[in-house]
Amino acid sequence: MTQSSGVPADIPAVINVGLMGLGVVGTGVAATLLRKNSPVSDVTGRSVRLKKVLVRDLSRPRDIDLPPGLLTADAEDILADPDIHIVVEVMGGTDPAESYLKQALSAGKHVVTANKEVMAKSGPELLALARENRANLLFEASVGGGIPIVGCLMNELAANDIRSIRSIINGTTNYILTRMAHHRTSFQQALREAQDLGYAEADPTNDIEGIDAAYKLTILASLAYRCAFQHEDVYCEGISKLEPQDFRYAQELGYAIKSLAIANLVDGAVQLRVYPAFVPAEHMLAKVDGVYNAVEVDGSLCGQVLFHGMGAGREPTTSAVVGDLIEVVRNMGRHAAPSRVQAGEGPQNGPALAVRPIGDLQARYYIRLDVADHPGVLAQIAKVFGDGQISIAAVLQRDTHPETESAEIVITTHPAKEESVQHALQAMAGLPQVRKVSNMIRIEE
Ligand SMILES: NC(=O)c1ccc[n+]([C@@H]2O[C@H](COP(=O)([O-])OP(=O)(O)OC[C@H]3O[C@@H](n4cnc5c(N)ncnc54)[C@H](OP(=O)(O)O)[C@@H]3O)[C@@H](O)[C@H]2O)c1
Repeated sequence: MTQSSGVPADIPAVINVGLMGLGVVGTGVAATLLRKNSPVSDVTGRSVRLKKVLVRDLSRPRDIDLPPGLLTADAEDILADPDIHIVVEVMGGTDPAESYLKQALSAGKHVVTANKEVMAKSGPELLALARENRANLLFEASVGGGIPIVGCLMNELAANDIRSIRSIINGTTNYILTRMAHHRTSFQQALREAQDLGYAEADPTNDIEGIDAAYKLTILASLAYRCAFQHEDVYCEGISKLEPQDFRYAQELGYAIKSLAIANLVDGAVQLRVYPAFVPAEHMLAKVDGVYNAVEVDGSLCGQVLFHGMGAGREPTTSAVVGDLIEVVRNMGRHAAPSRVQAGEGPQNGPALAVRPIGDLQARYYIRLDVADHPGVLAQIAKVFGDGQISIAAVLQRDTHPETESAEIVITTHPAKEESVQHALQAMAGLPQVRKVSNMIRIEE
């Protein structure tokens, strides 16, 4: 039986939600659920009630006035309550979040989570548990904040063979790179600014070393290729080695530097990588600045589609979490004919795909060297490239330092195999005339 709203009648008259976490995202979710005309009730025609909110520290001042009795520091008040139908987890971290999610799913509760780390590390296991217990597990907010990319890969783009995903999915690094590009700030200075503005955490390792982006790429690639990848499958390089002169050269050569998270298919195997890359200045990804995120999907039917928007923050992330909540309410009771994302769909349904090592990558390269300013140095470097079958596209020499008799040389290559380039860089580092291999950045055309 179906009501006029389209929601089946065999679900509870009041749907109770347990919210785990009342920080940046949890506060936005709680405020939306407590609104007089909450979108969840408005859209689904169901009465949806926030029943309990879990926090760590009950005495901490909050940005929101909750009705009395809602806050608890005991997870069992949510997990063991049979009247709580949906658990929204916005605590973050793996422990205890993962075990709470398992407990909730095992009890047949539906789950909405924003937790990329848990979904990247244990997504397939949790989805299997959800399927076993006929529960929904939705995780739109785990990638791209307010950008609806997770659901689109599962649903609207599901007809496509995905050729590639190229994305900027860490706002903190994109903010730092934007400052370095447009204001010529050093990496350390840009990081300090990001921390002062609350964009970067006190310990920024996960963001600047690409770990956060690797978690998100694991989720996107698992959905796109219907295969359970591990976050260790993602080759990962951070942005801390970038220096102001890299941005100067990039601009001179017609590129922007962006930290890209890329998944693509090459001869039936997948390549997964996060690293700073040269992106042609006229490409749309080069124009994604500040804390914004973007995901470009290249599908066999849809061609190139670009998603762009706010990748974090209270409101955008609330949009994704509450959107999932609406989806769960719609799905509740539709056991026979789910119309959209249903528990268990997504990762691990397709054939297992091999992951190519980074050494297999074919790309163009930018290489910056600090060399002795002596005649014949270029010939020696060219020989190393020649020995590795790497063809040079351009050589720039701008900065010479008479006091140290050194010079900075920048070389770009034609497409070459990464393994050969790495060998060449090792050989170059051993040349007496090469004082330092200062940087190597891949060029994404
Ligand atoms: N912030 C964003 O823009 C954003 C965007 C996309 C996804 N996400 C994801 O959303 C999740 C939440 O992020 P957030 O920024 O809202 O985090 P947050 O501001 O640090 O808030 C975390 C909340 O969880 C509670 N909590 C943490 N550990 C707990 C525990 N062991 N027991 C009980 N409560 C606990 C905290 O309680 P207390 O308040 O008492 O400390 C706090 O209320 C994370 O998975 C994050 O990756 C965040």
